[in-house]
Amino acid sequence: MRETKDLEIQRVAVVGTGLMGHGIAQSFAMKGYDVNLLSRNRDSLNKAIQEIEWSLAKFVKKGFLNKHETESVLSRISTTTSYEEGLEEIDLALESVSEKLELKKQVFSKIDEAAPAHAIIATNTSTLSITEMGNSTRRSEKTVGMHWFIPPQLTKLIEVIRGDSTSNETLKAILDLSKKLGKTPILCKKDARGFIVSRILVAAFNEAFWTFSRGEASILEIDSSVRYGGGFPMGWFELVDFVGVDVEYDVSKILFEAHGDRYRPVLELTEPLVKAKKLGRKSGVGFYDWGKSKPVLPLEYKSSYDVERSWAVAANEAAFMVLEEVAEPESIDLGMKLGTGWPSGPCEYADKKGLDKILHKLEHAYSQYPIELYKPCSLLEEYVKKGWTGKETGKGFYKYEQVFS
Ligand SMILES: NC(=O)c1ccc[n+]([C@@H]2O[C@H](COP(=O)([O-])OP(=O)(O)OC[C@H]3O[C@@H](n4cnc5c(N)ncnc54)[C@H](O)[C@@H]3O)[C@@H](O)[C@H]2O)c1
Repeated sequence: MRETKDLEIQRVAVVGTGLMGHGIAQSFAMKGYDVNLLSRNRDSLNKAIQEIEWSLAKFVKKGFLNKHETESVLSRISTTTSYEEGLEEIDLALESVSEKLELKKQVFSKIDEAAPAHAIIATNTSTLSITEMGNSTRRSEKTVGMHWFIPPQLTKLIEVIRGDSTSNETLKAILDLSKKLGKTPILCKKDARGFIVSRILVAAFNEAFWTFSRGEASILEIDSSVRYGGGFPMGWFELVDFVGVDVEYDVSKILFEAHGDRYRPVLELTEPLVKAKKLGRKSGVGFYDWGKSKPVLPLEYKSSYDVERSWAVAANEAAFMVLEEVAEPESIDLGMKLGTGWPSGPCEYADKKGLDKILHKLEHAYSQYPIELYKPCSLLEEYVKKGWTGKETGKGFYKYEQVFS
């Protein structure tokens, strides 16, 4: 029997053929892995193969692949509706079915029954508990989170999440595999809701939502300031529309349940949209009307919203993650840059700006609007008290070489 310890993953099963599942299967096949794609019915498998063919054609058009290569990519993907067939002789099964814990637990348990004993079972969940899924198998030490970003064929980031029972061998195998796939893995050391990227992102969304609901700035003013003033790829409302208002709504509620008042969501803003099925780009309307073009943001509003407040809540949340030993500053920064295209990571930004300034921004906001979102993390306070205010003093989130003149 093969041991997970020296496991080199060669054959993979992907369970679920939705938006993410087919893209993940394609990503494996493009790097030479044999993939069994598993779904409940033939129709969804056929549709998935059509989507993969469409995507491969785009790679050819852009000159990244030739016709012969696309044929060999396709030849590496087998499709099946049978767990027995799909999980035979695999080294890794990755589930990417709908974001429902009970469903994922059932899928984990079915994989556990059918897959070889050495195989790792991973989940692509965005928010749910890896540990609970792992506990529905008899090999929880071989279960792990492997969270891809959309579109999986192109995005460079993978969050690797350690469940309570995940072994070091399993983690290492998935971190190594991610690198072989040409991705940059970041390690989420604990099974904490929101993992790394969603947690920081929702903090920034909530700040924008509160600002708008207090009547301090309009949606256009906030988004124009974020995009043109802050150099982010999109404004926060624009980005919520892009990922789906319903997705943000669900994730923000999960974060609130898990982390408490710091994540109190502004449901008055998102709930009416979700109820009216105005889900953003995918439904044509959300905060913006996406019918004609992507949102047009007036350049003249680019200084109307204080983007430093976005950075302050992001850096504050990063401090909580460091304090709770969920993630290292390097992982947080890489995650935000590679996963969402931020111009800088929140830790490196805060170190450059000065942690004392970030702390002051939070304290000022907290004195004006006493909501937990602005309450500074004790780690930030401690760093500033010790004089560790960032790059200038040689120590902040990171350590810097001191340059003496
Ligand atoms: N969409 C994103 O941007 C994104 C990004 C990262 C991770 N994820 C995660 O990836 C997973 C899949 O998301 P998606 O966007 O591809 O969803 P999707 O709705 O496009 O696809 C869901 C898939 O689950 C399958 N499914 C549903 N019920 C099932 C059942 N009872 N048995 C077997 N299969 C079943 C569906 O047939 C479909 O193939 C989720 O956990 C999601 O949180 C999504």
